[in-house]
Amino acid sequence: MPKMTFVERDGTRREVEAPLGLSVLEIAHKHNVDIEGACEGSLACSTCHVIVEAGWFAKLETPTEDEEDMLDLAFDLQETSRLGCQLIMTPKLDGLVVKLPAGSRNAG
Ligand code: FES
Repeated sequence: MPKMTFVERDGTRREVEAPLGLSVLEIAHKHNVDIEGACEGSLACSTCHVIVEAGWFAKLETPTEDEEDMLDLAFDLQETSRLGCQLIMTPKLDGLVVKLPAGSRNAG
């Protein structure tokens, strides 16, 4: 089973099992990682925002324009930001590391 790591807001790293075909958002929910995902993957919010660790960013599929548009609204946007609901686990992504942003929509 592939694994991935979530880096929590306080810097704690949590390695979890990441079943193929599930999105990073779904994997987070399975393991009670605090990513909201208010629209459940329909690209209508930005609360599933995650920051991908630099080395991994280039290995991901390019984001669609719709994803880019939603990302523009995300709080704490960074160069390697992506929407967790759009990142689907594949064998290539075994070991993926993503960080939770400083917040979602409370501020800004
Ligand atoms: S859950 Fe809303 S865009 Fe990802």
